[in-house]
Amino acid sequence: MQSSRIVLHKLSKTYKRGDSEVRALVDVNATFEEGEFITLFGPSGCGKTTLLRIIAGLESQSEGDISLFGNSPAQASRLKNIAWVPQSSALLPWLSIRNNVLLSEFVNKRADRIVGSTRKAEDPDEVLADLGLADFKAALPAQLSGGMRQRAAIARGFVQGAPLMLMDEPFSALDELTRDSIRLRLLDVWEKHRKTVVFVTHSAFEAVMLSDRVVVMTPRPGRIHSIVDINLPRPRTREVLESREFEEKVREVKHILREGWGQDE
Ligand SMILES: Nc1ncnc2c1ncn2[C@@H]1O[C@H](COP(=O)(O)OP(=O)(O)OP(=O)(O)O)[C@@H](O)[C@H]1O
Ligand SMILES: [Mg+2]
Repeated sequence: MQSSRIVLHKLSKTYKRGDSEVRALVDVNATFEEGEFITLFGPSGCGKTTLLRIIAGLESQSEGDISLFGNSPAQASRLKNIAWVPQSSALLPWLSIRNNVLLSEFVNKRADRIVGSTRKAEDPDEVLADLGLADFKAALPAQLSGGMRQRAAIARGFVQGAPLMLMDEPFSALDELTRDSIRLRLLDVWEKHRKTVVFVTHSAFEAVMLSDRVVVMTPRPGRIHSIVDINLPRPRTREVLESREFEEKVREVKHILREGWGQDE
């Protein structure tokens, strides 16, 4: 196993619920390269969040191995090598946007000293400015729109300087126009910092727009049906997004998803 990669090897997850069992993931194999933008795309209940939680070390797999840059998820999480951007921004309402972004960094810095992490935090003011929040650093979360709060949550993720960012449907609560502009902002910041991102979405458009590769999953129990290369140019300008090649990729990803529906146990 190479240490610059994320390797998922024969991962399975079965949840026990009383006497019954739920098979959430079966035989998941994949390798993600450092700096790649990967999207997990699949129907509700196919195990996307489960897989993300296993990668984050928040859940243990039933079978198989996982390596995050040569570490186990637990080690990577201790080294603060993982940043999690949640579905709702989860900002503390009594702290300014800037202090919300700095809070995790403050906690992480203390942890760095204990575990000897070599993580390098990013400049919070620069990241906030890149996400269009330069004029809102002193504002409280309640004074911001939903889209701005989500941008602040993304800023908090980037500022931590973790090489791996996990994002579980971070835009699902936003309206379509807001989603559109926030996706472009995310891409701008990602192009600058090139973290490895594993992103979860239900939207084929979002998956193709953001990703280097899209992992298409089958319905329960979740397996990887295919991994689709999105070899479209970056940056993903409006021109790229309105191209025929882009439309074809979205269609291809949707088609593969539909194929997966016929492949249940
Ligand atoms: N803590 C748990 N205990 C028991 N079953 C669980 C638990 N978490 C998830 N499951 C089950 O595992 C399966 C996969 O759930 P998961 O949340 O990973 O799916 P998902 O792809 O993220 O779905 P969605 O798109 O709706 O968010 C589902 O059948 C779910 O009911
Ligand atoms: Mg989910």
